[in-house]
Amino acid sequence: MRITEHIRRLKGYVHGEQPSGRGVVKLNTNENAYPPSPKCAEALKRFPAAALRLYPNAESTPLRKAIAALHGTSPDNVFVGNGSDEILSLAAKVFVGDDEAIGSLDPSYSLYKTLADIRNVPWKGFREGSDVGKWNLKGVSLFLWTNPNAPTGRFVEPREIAAFAKKFPGVVIVDEAYADFARGNAMALATAPRNRNIVVMRTFSKSYSLAGLRVGYCVGPKDLIAALMKTKDSYNVDGVAQAVALAAVRDQAWKDANCRKIVLAREKCAGDLRKRGWDVPPSESNFLFARPPVGTDPEHLFQKLKEKNIFIRYFSGKLTRDRLRISIGTPREMEKFIAAIDAIQKGK
Ligand SMILES: Cc1ncc(COP(=O)(O)O)c(C=O)c1O
Repeated sequence: MRITEHIRRLKGYVHGEQPSGRGVVKLNTNENAYPPSPKCAEALKRFPAAALRLYPNAESTPLRKAIAALHGTSPDNVFVGNGSDEILSLAAKVFVGDDEAIGSLDPSYSLYKTLADIRNVPWKGFREGSDVGKWNLKGVSLFLWTNPNAPTGRFVEPREIAAFAKKFPGVVIVDEAYADFARGNAMALATAPRNRNIVVMRTFSKSYSLAGLRVGYCVGPKDLIAALMKTKDSYNVDGVAQAVALAAVRDQAWKDANCRKIVLAREKCAGDLRKRGWDVPPSESNFLFARPPVGTDPEHLFQKLKEKNIFIRYFSGKLTRDRLRISIGTPREMEKFIAAIDAIQKGK
């Protein structure tokens, strides 16, 4: 059995743990702390099991129409994927030649490098916050700009991304997985008729509380969307997922209310940590990326919290190992997290 050399070498994406059981406080994978809209539960109940006999709508047409209406664009400008991860994977196939490269901020979503490894092309990371004018983008044909970024939560003004895209000859995907928790977004860039190379990507996994459903979408110029359409699996989004995501799109008020609660809890937790000597840069996401006070080893603290059934995330990379990423949960969960930190500091 032959496995290609680069796949043999591939480490693969490392996802966060999915612990279950009573008493677990799960602040490790940036899921939403609140349930999805009750309209999603109704859509699930209404979905006829007999319809599973048939293939789903291959182009997710009703859902694309609803998303297009939400953003004031045409369904031909919208692609729906099996999670935004599928869109990223397709983009790596469609917008990157064998002798080209994928670029992104560094640090950023670690899947980007894995996708480059799968495609057997280089991944080039550019220090977040560094001078964009000095980036050596030679060979990069696809740039994945996460905004707000993960794991840092840092937000840049969309006009900075627009200025970058104007000079960049390839495709820029603005990964807005967390934009609903931020003060702004780049959707106006993706829907502007003059735009040739900007695609804005969103997911139902975070603000819509539907990580288990696996639906994401992107908005961009028609020719780029058509290229994604041609290369996707025939029935990439299942019928149940389409129906439930459609219900979620139709209940913007529910999503917005949850986002507001999470933003409040985020700011409260940031304040609580700062009072305890942590360095907590501003975050516009549903997580914080914080450095514990001098003398506290982040990895040790991560392990100690885990022993107490509190799961956060530690990334051992050079740019990330002095910090911890804490997804924002309910106020009660955040209280438990802070109480656990205090107990650990006291040696308990
Ligand atoms: C920046 C970023 N993009 C994309 C995704 C994937 O989202 P989805 O669940 O839609 O595949 C994540 C998930 O954590 C993410 O952090």
